[in-house]
Amino acid sequence: MNQALITTIEKQALETLVAIKDKETLMRWEVQFLGRKSELSSMLKDVKNLTPEQKRTLAPKLQGLRQKLVTELTLKQVEIENNARDWEGERVDVTAPGIARPVGHLHPITQLENEVLEIFEALGFAVADGPEVETEWYNFDALNFPKDHPARDMQDTFWLKGGGAKIKKNGKTEAERLLMRTHTSPNQVRFMEKNKPPFRVIVPGRVFRNEATDASHEHTFHQFECLMLDETGKVNVATFKYLAETFFGTFFGKKVTIRLRPSFFPFTEPSFEFDISCVLCDSAGCSTCKQTGWIEIGGAGMVHQNVLEAAGYPKGKYQGFAWGFGLTRLAMMKYKITDIRQFMGGDLRFIRQF
Ligand code: PHE
Repeated sequence: MNQALITTIEKQALETLVAIKDKETLMRWEVQFLGRKSELSSMLKDVKNLTPEQKRTLAPKLQGLRQKLVTELTLKQVEIENNARDWEGERVDVTAPGIARPVGHLHPITQLENEVLEIFEALGFAVADGPEVETEWYNFDALNFPKDHPARDMQDTFWLKGGGAKIKKNGKTEAERLLMRTHTSPNQVRFMEKNKPPFRVIVPGRVFRNEATDASHEHTFHQFECLMLDETGKVNVATFKYLAETFFGTFFGKKVTIRLRPSFFPFTEPSFEFDISCVLCDSAGCSTCKQTGWIEIGGAGMVHQNVLEAAGYPKGKYQGFAWGFGLTRLAMMKYKITDIRQFMGGDLRFIRQF
């Protein structure tokens, strides 16, 4: 064994390799130059019989050559594989149009809710929140709904199975009945309990009613509760009317007139339903206002003293108004939507228009 022989093997191996174009020939090459019976392998086995001097010079050369041939073999394998691949199918057309990735956006009701909140915040209102699963106490009792009065059914309540916290009722302890809130009004009392007048607050929220659905009725919709309280004599119906006109005027960007009609809610006295002048036809009469020039918007009234009492306030000390209106109804008007069910219907073709 000597240096010349190693060089010869290397030369021979590399020269043969260059010409190889297919797998089978490459395999034969591997057996010939790197296989167990190859010249290189037997020389490597023979290293142990060399003199120390030869070992020092030749052994690294042999190892180096083996390493080199293994590397060249791998490169050749890759080359053969690449040549065999059908590149035609993998051609990239850099001029092809890209794929548009859809980007989500806020639901139209949420967009509108934000818009409404902004107007009220500019008017100095705080924003509060409350639970959708409500107790019978906050949804009805504290709001002065008489016990076992049909008014509780009037709101088409979804009652929940099971009960909430234990309470004392008619001398007995029982679990409080739970329900899906039928309006945002329970938050009047919730807010009063934690704050001291004077204050003004708005509470947006989703409410639920066990109703047969049609184009203008939905079991789930959005409301706004508005509450303004101060010491007796400082806030009255005129304050409410002014606020309502300011809000709707800002919202629709034009002068809006408010009309109050006497009504009944257990938690307000006096109570009103209120209408706004139709913004679509400027009160001339159209299909949205059913030719009346007015659109029903919500309920309102001066907070009943029993409600203030239920919240823990001394009777007669404070006075104020509450009003609630349907955000979904407002959305229908703003976007001229004729079927309320579209908002929660989950049809993306509808939602994507906003
Ligand atoms: N909560 C009432 C409803 O949902 C509306 C309302 C709110 C009425 C506040 C008066 C005062 O119908």
